[in-house]
Parts: sequence; structure tokens; C-alpha cells
Amino acid sequence: MERTLAIVKPDGVRKGLIGEVIRRFEAEGLRVVALKMLQMSKEEAEGFYAVHRGKSFYEGLTRFMSSGPVVVMVLEGEGAIERVRGIMGATDPQKAAPGTIRRLYADNVQENIVHGSDSPESAAFEIPYFFSAIEICS
Ligand code: RTP
Ligand code: MG
Repeated sequence: MERTLAIVKPDGVRKGLIGEVIRRFEAEGLRVVALKMLQMSKEEAEGFYAVHRGKSFYEGLTRFMSSGPVVVMVLEGEGAIERVRGIMGATDPQKAAPGTIRRLYADNVQENIVHGSDSPESAAFEIPYFFSAIEICS
């Protein structure tokens, strides 16, 4: 069993897509084992996306990610990391496969509704960024 961190980004919350995003993950057999809503400070968003520090989109990304509440969750299942990435679709919604969350709902490459860990190493950093062990149900 693998675990991954997913986030409904501020645009997804603003558009009323919290339930729709979670429904799609559950419909594909992923189990929600931790869940909460919060608003990151700019500094907290910078820490979460530290891997992107120095890139052209880092400032805009961290401003966007701290612009409103997000819903963070831990999903569990076999191959959860890759499966969640598949359900989300490519970063740029115009390049995302038909039927994916980003293709259906995202406005642009920055405001793209969802985040998902991209590797076991990322998941190992991202899950404890938001959840302590006692908050994860298995
Ligand atoms: P995420 O980390 O949010 O799941 O997205 P991702 O793996 O598909 O994409 P990544 O390369 O990790 O980029 C993180 C987020 O930064 C914003 N971004 N903007 N303006 C741009 O060219 C650009 N590139 C990336 C997006 O919000 C992307 O999801
Ligand atoms: Mg990423």
C-alpha cells in the first residue's frame, strides 16, 4: 500500500470542487486516510514548494497557494502516487488528457485545481508537512 498527498488548491475550493475532486479519487478506489482544510501563509507555501525555489513560477505559485483555503488529504492505495497523477492530468490543462480533473476544470497552468505528490520521496516530505502520525487513519 502506498500513500500520497493531494491538495484541492485555492481555485478548486473557490469553484466548489472539493467534493468532485474527492469523489473522483474515491471512485478510482483510493482511500482517504487523512483530511483537513487550512490556509497556508506565504511562508508555509514557500516551504511546501521549496523544490521549485528559483524557478520563474515560484513567486506566483506560492502567492496563489496562499491566496485562500485549501483541502489537504492523504490517499492510500496500490500505486497511489501514479494513479492520483493520472486522475489529475498534466500540469497544463491544455495538455491534460480528456476526462482528467485538470482538463475538465483548470483555467491555466498555474491555477490547476489539484496537487499530487510526484514520487515516493515527495510524498515522504509532503505528508508530514501537514499531518502528524496520529491524524492518519489506516
Ligand atoms: P503539483 O506539484 O501542484 O501537483 O503540479 P505538477 O507536479 O503537475 O507541476 P510542477 O512542475 O510540480 O509545478 C507545481 C505547480 O506550479 C505551477 N506551475 N506554473 N507558470 C508555469 O509555467 C507553471 N509551471 C508550474 C502549477 O500550479 C503547478 O501545478
Ligand atoms: Mg509537482
